Amino acid sequence: MSAFQKETVLSVRHWTDSLFSFTATRDPGFRFQNGQFAMIGLEVEGKPLMRAYSMASANHEEALEFFSIKVQDGPLTSRLQKIREGDIILVGRKATGTLITGNLIPGKRLLLLSTGTGLAPFASLIKDPDVYENYETIVLAHGCRQVSELAYGEHLVEGLRDHEFFGPLIRDKLVYYPTVTREPFRNRGRITDLIASNQMFDDIGLSGLDIETDRIMLCGSPAMLEDLHAMFSARGFVEGNHSKPGHFVIEKAFVER
Ligand code: A2P
Repeated sequence: MSAFQKETVLSVRHWTDSLFSFTATRDPGFRFQNGQFAMIGLEVEGKPLMRAYSMASANHEEALEFFSIKVQDGPLTSRLQKIREGDIILVGRKATGTLITGNLIPGKRLLLLSTGTGLAPFASLIKDPDVYENYETIVLAHGCRQVSELAYGEHLVEGLRDHEFFGPLIRDKLVYYPTVTREPFRNRGRITDLIASNQMFDDIGLSGLDIETDRIMLCGSPAMLEDLHAMFSARGFVEGNHSKPGHFVIEKAFVER
């Protein structure tokens, strides 16, 4: 059995010159936990060309969804950005990753902090009923350079607000906090600075960072992860993993450089 399953692209949506998302069929045998990633890619010259991608869909959904950057000379994304409905993609049979609720000590508030396509695993987690069961409040922060890069996240949250099952949960528990660094927007600045200054919590009308109640997941650019890791560690937060749950967990956004 090949390590990769062939799946059919069901839809593709381009959000900006540099961001797109797509859905694909899902093998019924492909199981994952919300927040995990798998290797996905294309067959190029007879060989699989694969990269790690977080599932943006939840594990109760029939189709798979991915949110991707487009890198013009990137080996995979220069090709992947051209896929159309009906095309075949390859999906690894094994999902893995640290951004799962089981890697966190129980808490009351879940902070999902992302930049760029680092939003993807959180798109999956905010469609997980258990997340709403286990936390009183979920804060989804998404930092981008430009307002246009927020579109996928805005559309996702809007869609959930109108959803029959998730609508009431989202209204009661999810706080969506988009922020932009390089042009005017209602929330401005880097997530790091907005947390350090307490501005994010002031803006959303919630109490500041508290190790007793807050559990944190991070996904985004390496610089953002490094800075937040240092900030949370300095405040006594301990990183969790599969063998020992902690106050926060980290996954790199799988960006082609
Ligand atoms: P900035 O515009 O100030 O660099 P990128 O597109 O480079 O991955 O960045 C996505 C977002 O992450 C941008 O808003 C960027 O802000 C922000 N960012 C970059 N480095 C950091 C960091 N060390 N901490 C927090 N946010 C960061």
